[in-house]
Amino acid sequence: MKTYAIAAIPGDGIGTEVIAAGIEVLHALAKRDGSFKFKVDHFDWGSEYYKTHGVMMPEHGRDQIKKHDAILFGSAGSPDVPDHITLWGLRLAICQPFDQYANVRPTRILPGITSPLRNVQGPELDWVIVRENSEGEYAGVGGRVHKGLALEAATDVAMFTRAGVERIMRFAFKLARSRPRRLLTVVTKSNAQRHAMVMWDEIAAEIAGEFKDVTWDKMLVDAMTMRMVMRPETLDTVVATNLHADILSDLAAALAGSLGIAPTANLNPERRYPSMFEPIHGSAFDIVGQGIANPIGTFWSAVMMLEHFGETAAAARLMQAIERVTADRRFHTPDLGGTARTTEVTEAVKNAIHGANV
Ligand code: NAI
Ligand code: MG
Repeated sequence: MKTYAIAAIPGDGIGTEVIAAGIEVLHALAKRDGSFKFKVDHFDWGSEYYKTHGVMMPEHGRDQIKKHDAILFGSAGSPDVPDHITLWGLRLAICQPFDQYANVRPTRILPGITSPLRNVQGPELDWVIVRENSEGEYAGVGGRVHKGLALEAATDVAMFTRAGVERIMRFAFKLARSRPRRLLTVVTKSNAQRHAMVMWDEIAAEIAGEFKDVTWDKMLVDAMTMRMVMRPETLDTVVATNLHADILSDLAAALAGSLGIAPTANLNPERRYPSMFEPIHGSAFDIVGQGIANPIGTFWSAVMMLEHFGETAAAARLMQAIERVTADRRFHTPDLGGTARTTEVTEAVKNAIHGANV
């Protein structure tokens, strides 16, 4: 029997609640399928680890997870540790060295969920946002001088490399080609940022030449927010920089009903390193410990993990189970306007996996 080794890093806040739920669902799925199982190793890295050890993860932490088939990640972020420490110390400390340069974020309206857009019933909004995940605005290049003095100055330099832009464009065009509409929108800001963003546009046009069967267009990021809200049906696959896609995908998640539903995959497409799967949301300080975190974003991320493994039947079974559960308002958590608890949603998905009526 095939065994998939999963490194589980629940991290902080509701990360621990949703990852526990996700692992339960994965085991239920393996049991139902019978042809594979999961070996899950837990890593207690995060803000609590930081408070004891002064680092978010051990120095050689990556060596402990580099042989795993995938990483299942919760959230990094705690009210009493600065966000740049938690983010750079854990999530980016994994994404960047493991060269998970393609961050894939599907968004659609699941059955039973209402979009805040009054003209959207469901099928009009079906997007995949591809986020450049290795450089750009989050390259970490910059510095601070004259700290604390009146002449203090600070820079964050957006780094774009030709190789980095080419590979993300090629990935996005390929993904667009695999979807029925074969439509890609390249998000840019080349009117104001006249160096890197102009190169970004030029490379997009070059790569487009390799994908003559994909229709593509270009959109300034500010206008893109308007198009997402006003004409969602005109979009399908979207590619954007690290910062732009970070923001646009939170908007996308909200337009699809809740941040608690949205999944993401941090992919190393060449599979030299494990890829990492996580809900888009963060630690959600306001609801932590209450047992009401929506676990659907984690379950959907598990679907993406199964697809990455090539377990397409199991991925489809889990997605169907998720959709059966979202279709039933009894299983909506408070972020969706319901009263269900994390455990109830998890049980319902497990029951749906086993084919029982929910
Ligand atoms: P957040 O995603 O934690 O919360 C935003 C809002 O959405 C809150 O009202 C929260 O209750 C709600 N929400 C989020 N996920 C939910 C779920 N599964 N079910 C129900 N409601 C949910 O974003 P925020 O408040 O900006 O960040 C909190 C902390 O999390 C910060 O320290 C931040 O740095 C960190 N963070 C970490 C991320 C990661 O590790 N990938 C991603 C985003 C934030
Ligand atoms: Mg974000």
